[in-house]
Amino acid sequence: MAKSYFSIPFFLLSVFFSSSFAAQTPTQSLYTSFLQCLTQNNTDSTISNIVFSQTNSSFSTVLQDYIRNARFNTTSTSKPLIIVTPKNPSHVQSTVICAKNVNIQIKIRSGGHDYEGISYVNKSPFIILDMFNLRTINVDIENEVAYIQAGSTLGEVYYRIYEKSKVHGFPAGVCPTVGVGGHLSGGGYGTMLRKYGLSVDNVIDAEIVDVKGRLLNRKSMGEDLFWAIRGGGGASFGVVLSYTIKLVAVPETVTVFRIEKTLDQNATDLVVQWQQVAPTTDDRLFMRLLLQPITSKVVKGTKTVRASVVALFLGGAEEVVGILEKEFPLLGLKKADCIELSWINSVLWYNDADAFNNGAKPESLLDRNLNSASFGKRKSDYVQKPISRDGLELIWKKMIELGKVGFVFNPYGGKMNEIPADATPFPHRAGNLFKIQFSVNWDDPSANATTNYLNQAKTLYSFMTPYVSNNPRSAYLNYRDLDIGINSFGKNSYQEGQVYATKYFNNNFDRLVKIKTVVDPKNFFRNEQSIPVHP
Ligand SMILES: Cc1cc2nc3c(=O)[nH]c(=O)nc-3n(C[C@H](O)[C@H](O)[C@H](O)COP(=O)(O)OP(=O)(O)OC[C@H]3O[C@@H](n4cnc5c(N)ncnc54)[C@H](O)[C@@H]3O)c2cc1C
Ligand SMILES: *[C@@H]1O[C@H](CO)[C@@H](O)[C@H](O)[C@H]1NC(C)=O
Ligand SMILES: *[C@@H]1O[C@H](CO)[C@@H](O)[C@H](O)[C@H]1NC(C)=O
Ligand SMILES: *[C@@H]1O[C@H](CO)[C@@H](O)[C@H](O)[C@H]1NC(C)=O
Ligand SMILES: *[C@@H]1O[C@H](CO)[C@@H](O)[C@H](O)[C@H]1NC(C)=O
Ligand SMILES: *[C@@H]1O[C@H](CO)[C@@H](O)[C@H](O)[C@H]1NC(C)=O
Repeated sequence: MAKSYFSIPFFLLSVFFSSSFAAQTPTQSLYTSFLQCLTQNNTDSTISNIVFSQTNSSFSTVLQDYIRNARFNTTSTSKPLIIVTPKNPSHVQSTVICAKNVNIQIKIRSGGHDYEGISYVNKSPFIILDMFNLRTINVDIENEVAYIQAGSTLGEVYYRIYEKSKVHGFPAGVCPTVGVGGHLSGGGYGTMLRKYGLSVDNVIDAEIVDVKGRLLNRKSMGEDLFWAIRGGGGASFGVVLSYTIKLVAVPETVTVFRIEKTLDQNATDLVVQWQQVAPTTDDRLFMRLLLQPITSKVVKGTKTVRASVVALFLGGAEEVVGILEKEFPLLGLKKADCIELSWINSVLWYNDADAFNNGAKPESLLDRNLNSASFGKRKSDYVQKPISRDGLELIWKKMIELGKVGFVFNPYGGKMNEIPADATPFPHRAGNLFKIQFSVNWDDPSANATTNYLNQAKTLYSFMTPYVSNNPRSAYLNYRDLDIGINSFGKNSYQEGQVYATKYFNNNFDRLVKIKTVVDPKNFFRNEQSIPVHP
């Protein structure tokens, strides 16, 4: 499907002769014809102000503002020919219509947190449709709902809810700069997952611009498309403009704690017991487990693994200490380890405990931290049977040998077990004890460092094979990982799509393909891991 670079000049030739006789490079004429289409298709006489060409002095700033992984901020990273920054829905509609007219692919970017940068990087020529200006949030406490536009960040959503109510919240991700557009269309989870499920389990309406440029809501798009954009990845189906979410109840006081143990402090026993307790305990309790290879402080120079249990309990300290004394004695949780705080402060603490302890205020959730990123790589897995003590010991050994890649274990259970695997495209429900995130960040910009850390992640992923789900080896769409397969949109597009999409969507793949084939049969909305059309 993807037009090759060489097909562009043919088209442009006709534009060239019909519109002007000035000598223009292909990039310039594409810009000219796209802009001409926009001004013709939209009644807004200032619409040209939302378009940035490569030669515009603000181009690099606009591009870099929402780059969230320094791996995709190099001179060799592909750059868009044009960036469009719509300020209202009609701008999005005209952008879709005109990109189709001039036959160029678009990439949609909301918060730019895609772990493989696919919202702003592309192999063939492309336009970025950058949603950051579309960030209206209307919170309606009386009806316990909120309208949130795709370019909002999670931090803005949390803050706007907090402004109106101290006993409402929303179950979504931990990092406040993550964008609504990618996060909600790909699932979305955070510290209230066990009580309230995923973000998409709490979405009741949406607005989307489809391939024909129509602006649709839940009623006019129909239940199939509405189902698909709650976990199937928005970018396969259209441009999501907004979601309407159901707010959830949070107590006035919640509790957080962090307990750390290294191997010489019996971390292995802790992890054995964590696997029994974390996915089965009270669903108000979310105990994330971080595992990191580190240099030991006890025996200087030796390497060890540190296990950190980082938790949110939707209730008071005394109650959670009581629960865990019984269920998780090896944690040794005491009331003095616990901090009681408001839900909004728990969001700040969970995101960055140091900043919280240094006095960070809820207003800091509005900070977009533009143009800041380290290098990073993520991969994901699902664990369905507890990993044995022997298995854990082998895994520690491997982590220490590799040196840098860590894990985040995110417990499931609770509400996740109650929601059927086909209720949304996100299929990883009952039967999964926890999800693993493989995680490595670095600051060294050398190619050697990048190769080295990407290889470490691959090696550890391969090592984990016996301990995780298989047939398919499941993965979480929002932990985008191009290693598990990509699409080249040739004649094997469907088969290529099946490889990665079965890992992300298990048995929901077929329904996603059917919907895709109906709503976008010519595959205008596509990316490296989008849903293919039916062959
Ligand atoms: C620091 C960090 C922390 C994270 N923490 C969590 C977490 O706690 N929980 C969790 O579940 N995930 C987490 N993630 C993953 C995050 O949910 C995904 O990366 C998510 O897709 C990001 O959304 P975005 O809008 O910021 O990204 P983008 O890069 O803008 O978009 C991601 C994908 O969605 C598409 N897309 C974006 N906007 C739209 C739109 N309006 N319409 C249609 N398609 C669109 C893009 O084209 C791309 O394919 C984290 C990521 C990072 C980098
Ligand atoms: C923009 O293009 C669409 C699709 O061709 C068309 O339906 C619409 O009327 C156009 N809008 C204007 C203002 O010309
Ligand atoms: C860059 O593009 C913006 C948006 O179209 C426009 O407002 C601005 O004048 C342009 N700047 C230059 C130097 O061309
Ligand atoms: C680790 O476990 C052993 C055996 O159960 C016990 O004797 C020891 O005190 C524990 N060490 C720590 C630091 O808890
Ligand atoms: C991208 O690279 C430029 C230097 O070329 C730097 O100024 C900018 O801060 C970097 N941004 C990110 C997000 O890495
Ligand atoms: C490149 O990485 C390898 C593997 O970690 C390391 O042994 C080597 O010293 C590195 N080379 C440079 C030039 O940094």
